[in-house]
Amino acid sequence: MPVAVITGASKGLGRALAAALAERGWDLVLGARTADVLMESARYAGRHGTRVVAVPGDVTDAGHRTELVASARELGGLDLLVNNASALGAEPLVRLDVLPVAGLRAALETNVVAALGLVQEALPLLRKSPTGAVVAVSSDAAAEAYETWGGYGASKAALDHLAAVLAVEEPGLRVWSVDPGDMQTDLYRAAVPEDTDPRPSPGSVAPGFLRLLEQRPASGRYAAPSLLETR
Ligand SMILES: NC(=O)c1ccc[n+]([C@@H]2O[C@H](COP(=O)([O-])OP(=O)(O)OC[C@H]3O[C@@H](n4cnc5c(N)ncnc54)[C@H](OP(=O)(O)O)[C@@H]3O)[C@@H](O)[C@H]2O)c1
Repeated sequence: MPVAVITGASKGLGRALAAALAERGWDLVLGARTADVLMESARYAGRHGTRVVAVPGDVTDAGHRTELVASARELGGLDLLVNNASALGAEPLVRLDVLPVAGLRAALETNVVAALGLVQEALPLLRKSPTGAVVAVSSDAAAEAYETWGGYGASKAALDHLAAVLAVEEPGLRVWSVDPGDMQTDLYRAAVPEDTDPRPSPGSVAPGFLRLLEQRPASGRYAAPSLLETR
């Protein structure tokens, strides 16, 4: 069975991806900070009968990142790493003139530094997989200049760039940076609580990520909704 590590897997997109991969036979290592919510997500994914290991912890903690990869090794290896856990830097989001620099630092630590740390930890196993892949969950805020999204967007732009360079340095892997589009999740509500317009559910976005795994296009930046348009 292929093995995936997914960070931020207790709710939202991470939980939806975990369920979708388990349904397709993947063994999983799931991470997030809130243990009881993560356990519930792992139980939900585990109903398909594959092995699902919950590893509570914070991706900014190097020890937690080591534990995630060690759990994958115990399952037999690692074929897919999904760097999905994310911090906004300010909740709700604010303009750059009042963005706390500590908030920006926290967003960079979670979205960029921890993501690279986990890639470094995972590379020895990913290189051994015939289908080794890394998914960096990005955002359109990485590419577009939206008022108040500057700190978070800068962190996602940095994540995209790390992914692009990693793809060049690791030609044996697929490295996909994926913009999932807006989704109805706690993160989106925390970012813009005044926006109550309905957004797509994470479950409706997850099939775009599965399409990547099925079709294995070249490394690069993709938008999950447009992946679903191309059959
Ligand atoms: N929702 C949108 O509209 C939207 C749009 C574009 C991109 N995205 C991206 O999509 C991804 C998933 O976001 P989402 O909307 O699904 O958010 P979500 O529902 O709020 O889920 C975020 C997940 O990350 C975990 N997490 C946060 N900080 C963490 C940390 N330091 N260490 C470990 N786990 C951590 C959370 O659990 P704990 O809090 O328990 O740790 C949770 O499992 C993110 O990369 C986000 O930037 C979202």
